[in-house]
Amino acid sequence: MRLLLMGPPGAGKGTQAEVLTSKLEVPHISTGDMFRKAIKEGTELGRKAKEYMDAGQLVPDEVTIGIVRERLNEPDCAKGFLLDGFPRTVPQAEALDRILASTGRGLDAVLNIEVPREKLVDRLTGRRVCRACGATYHVLFNPPKAGGVCDHCGGELYQRSDDTVETVENRLDVYERQTAPLIAYYRDKGLLQSINGDQPIGQVLVDIGRGLGRDWV
Ligand code: AP5
Ligand code: MG
Ligand code: ZN
Repeated sequence: MRLLLMGPPGAGKGTQAEVLTSKLEVPHISTGDMFRKAIKEGTELGRKAKEYMDAGQLVPDEVTIGIVRERLNEPDCAKGFLLDGFPRTVPQAEALDRILASTGRGLDAVLNIEVPREKLVDRLTGRRVCRACGATYHVLFNPPKAGGVCDHCGGELYQRSDDTVETVENRLDVYERQTAPLIAYYRDKGLLQSINGDQPIGQVLVDIGRGLGRDWV
């Protein structure tokens, strides 16, 4: 299955993808995670991405499209993929269409997780992420069993450097300006499914399953 997870920063794309990747048995491809890994490893890509991410701006299209093109051509994507956070601009969406068409592939669905803006700031500023396995928590809405430690692997939890109030507001503005137009882009192609993301995490997953014709309650 070839899916896109869309939605504003904090909508729950990464949270849902953690479960969907194993249920659907397809790789989870998050451009944000790829950039964060590159920054941690100190690569050229990381150096290019860091200043944009810290400012809450998008990394330039040519950089982002290049890494996604390479990733989608890896063998594990032959059975499908779950893209999270890409595309985020109309040129990225057009490039994705071309990448997929070049190998005779197409998208099965675009899941747009909707959450009102006023809820997103609290979600993002309270987020904690496991340094070791990447699992996502929230200090109030999805707390770990033991404070500061990952339930899955015992890793240390940290706060993303772009989850400050100021950067979050920038990211939300950038989303509205540059990414929200993709909703119409995919609606026009008949691929868009709207998911109410303003519900408990488990219920959002159930609704996604229903939309995909899978009953995994
Ligand atoms: P990226 O890492 O993709 O960040 P984002 O889009 O801003 O989205 P988030 O990861 O912040 O939110 P999410 O929807 O995954 O929410 P989560 O599940 O964690 O991108 C970071 C940066 O990289 C960008 O700003 C840009 O600079 C660059 N970049 C990435 N892709 C790019 C591209 N294609 N082009 C150019 N630049 C790119 O949940 C958030 C919190 O809410 C968590 O604490 C979670 O526990 C909680 N939560 C989740 N679901 C619920 C729920 N149902 N109820 C209550 N709380 C919930
Ligand atoms: Mg995410
Ligand atoms: Zn962990």
